[in-house]
Amino acid sequence: MIEQIKEILNQIPNPASGSTLGKEQRWQLVTMEGEKLIAQYNRDGISPSEKRIIETEIQKSLSSLVGIDNILIKTTSSQSQDVFKSLEHTPSVSEVEPQSPPAQLKVGHGTVGNKKNVPGVGKIIAIGSGKGGVGKSTFTANLALTLAKSGHKVGVIDADIYGPSMPMIFGKRNEKPRSNSERKIIPVDSFGIKFMSFGFFINENDPVIWRGPMLGGVLNQFLFDVDWSDTDYLLIDLPPGTGDIQLSMIQNAHVDGAIIISTPQDIALLDAKKGLEMFKKLNLPIIGMVENMSAFICNHCGTEHHIFGEGGVEKAVQELGVNLLGKVPLEIELRTGSDIGVPYMSQEAYSNHPVWKSFLNVGENVNRFFNPETLSPKTSFFSKILGHKK
Ligand SMILES: Nc1ncnc2c1ncn2[C@@H]1O[C@H](COP(=O)(O)OP(=O)(O)OP(=O)(O)O)[C@@H](O)[C@H]1O
Ligand SMILES: [Mg+2]
Repeated sequence: MIEQIKEILNQIPNPASGSTLGKEQRWQLVTMEGEKLIAQYNRDGISPSEKRIIETEIQKSLSSLVGIDNILIKTTSSQSQDVFKSLEHTPSVSEVEPQSPPAQLKVGHGTVGNKKNVPGVGKIIAIGSGKGGVGKSTFTANLALTLAKSGHKVGVIDADIYGPSMPMIFGKRNEKPRSNSERKIIPVDSFGIKFMSFGFFINENDPVIWRGPMLGGVLNQFLFDVDWSDTDYLLIDLPPGTGDIQLSMIQNAHVDGAIIISTPQDIALLDAKKGLEMFKKLNLPIIGMVENMSAFICNHCGTEHHIFGEGGVEKAVQELGVNLLGKVPLEIELRTGSDIGVPYMSQEAYSNHPVWKSFLNVGENVNRFFNPETLSPKTSFFSKILGHKK
């Protein structure tokens, strides 16, 4: 069988070059360990999104032969070590206090058990999108800061192994989490938000493909082995799509609701609908949808330009019978803030801007979802800022 597998792997196209992985002699290891296939290829010159295409192609081609849960693909590059090695090693912490050991992750399959509550957490909100690049991570970080403005303690789990971005957005790229005396991982604090990310445990130049089920185990650790005590809202930034990570998380923890992010484009919406359907099938309450990059508002004349189309998400929420939590306009400062590690909603200087107000509006709608009686639009904290009349 191994020969047949090798033949198939050699035919997998490299989207970066148009050739095949075989012709480019990229396969470094193809072996069976029991029922498990372990294969490793050189990813030099292949971008993270191209790697995702390759992974999907491998899964499609080999699922009938090996079984999708038995495929483990690793990559190497001339600059990086295999991520598994990097995980086995203790992260380099410059000043390690004796009683505060660096936190370590155990890579392993997530087991699906009974749904558990995450100790210390009020509400868990999953933030998903069908498609990548719609601004989910940017939204998650800024929603966290928005919810903190209404007096809530907020935590964020960056569950995106393919492109963990919270360390960058929150300006903590070089941080290495430690464990407390109870061996729980201490989340990193930035702008008053506690967060945990795969990014802390892998090298930035080590983009690798991990099989979803392997990640289930890590995500379980992020839920249950991190000290989330005293957290009102725990937001989970999911990787795009409707795959194993999303399923594993929802099957293991009591998640209180999901938010779906989409841009107004038809294709993004189509994917967002798939995401919604998945959450619905899993009986996860849908808090609502958010339209991101909804329009560009000109700083000079105030005119709205609908760069990615108009009204699409509104139509979708009507069709699907879910709430529209708000629309976040395109805003250059939202991007630059994320790039330099100073998230937009941490900067009061923007408080008169439409994007700021759009986040307050979404935050209010999220609070109202969970507290429909106690939070009236007339008296809420957000309404006061937004200037709603009493
Ligand atoms: N409303 C916005 N206005 C301007 N830029 C935005 C907006 N929302 C997100 N961006 C920018 O768009 C890019 C993609 O956003 P982000 O990384 O948050 O998307 P994502 O959905 O999390 O992507 P991925 O699928 O890769 O995880 C980033 O450069 C981000 O700063
Ligand atoms: Mg992201």
